[in-house]
Amino acid sequence: MKKYLILTGAGISAESGIKTFRDSGGLWENHDVQQVASPQGFQEDPKLVWQFYKDRFNQSLAAEPNTAHYALKKLEDHLQDHFHLITQNVDGLHSRAGNERVIEMHGSLSNAFCSSCRASYRLADLDLSCDIPSCEKCGNSLRPDIVWFGEIPYSLYEIEQLLKECDVFMVIGTSGSVYPAAGFVMTAKLFGAHTVAVNLDRPDNLGFIDELHQGKCTQMLPALVDKILSK
Ligand code: OAD
Ligand code: ZN
Repeated sequence: MKKYLILTGAGISAESGIKTFRDSGGLWENHDVQQVASPQGFQEDPKLVWQFYKDRFNQSLAAEPNTAHYALKKLEDHLQDHFHLITQNVDGLHSRAGNERVIEMHGSLSNAFCSSCRASYRLADLDLSCDIPSCEKCGNSLRPDIVWFGEIPYSLYEIEQLLKECDVFMVIGTSGSVYPAAGFVMTAKLFGAHTVAVNLDRPDNLGFIDELHQGKCTQMLPALVDKILSK
């Protein structure tokens, strides 16, 4: 059985009603990206940054996984250990669709951690009515567990191993413009994988893609997964 590695981005959640990044003209839900997605922005105005992520957390809870998320669940059910999913999304929709082998490389809206002692928390357990939630252990400010610009994504070592081992690497709903994730397709291809993209627009890293399925995730992915399962 072939080993499949999947990388998803904002495009797969677009049809669940969650806005993508590039499509909003440098603004993200009407905010300057640097202001709400960088350590400097958090230092300058932690209240505003927390409000932004509380709103996005609630938005993600109100959203539902779509047929593209469920197609990936179906693929994992079939492939089991031969399936791994890396996501740049922080909305938790892959896990809610039932996928288990998920790496959230840019963090999660559901989590926070203490900027001082690193203790971790679930947002669902915090009192979100206060402006800036604080750590029960040391009293310092908590921050959202999101990988911001200038920070290193999670699980890069594990990801590199998976990229080297996979037979098929699929990139779904991602513009291929934010590194290091945008470079994964090159690594996978250099190590011999067949590379497939499912995306509305032509991704920026198209040169490393063997097979492009251009269109909406919900229209393309269920059929593509059925084709894989029928092999
Ligand atoms: P982008 O907003 O850069 O790209 C979304 C891609 O999805 C675009 O290429 C669209 O053409 C495509 N798309 C939109 N709707 C689609 C649909 N219904 N079906 C298929 N494709 C669709 O989002 P990402 O590539 O995920 O990082 O952005 C990568 C990272 O940039 C994010 O994780 C975030 C941001 O900075 C952090 O927050 C650290
Ligand atoms: Zn602490």
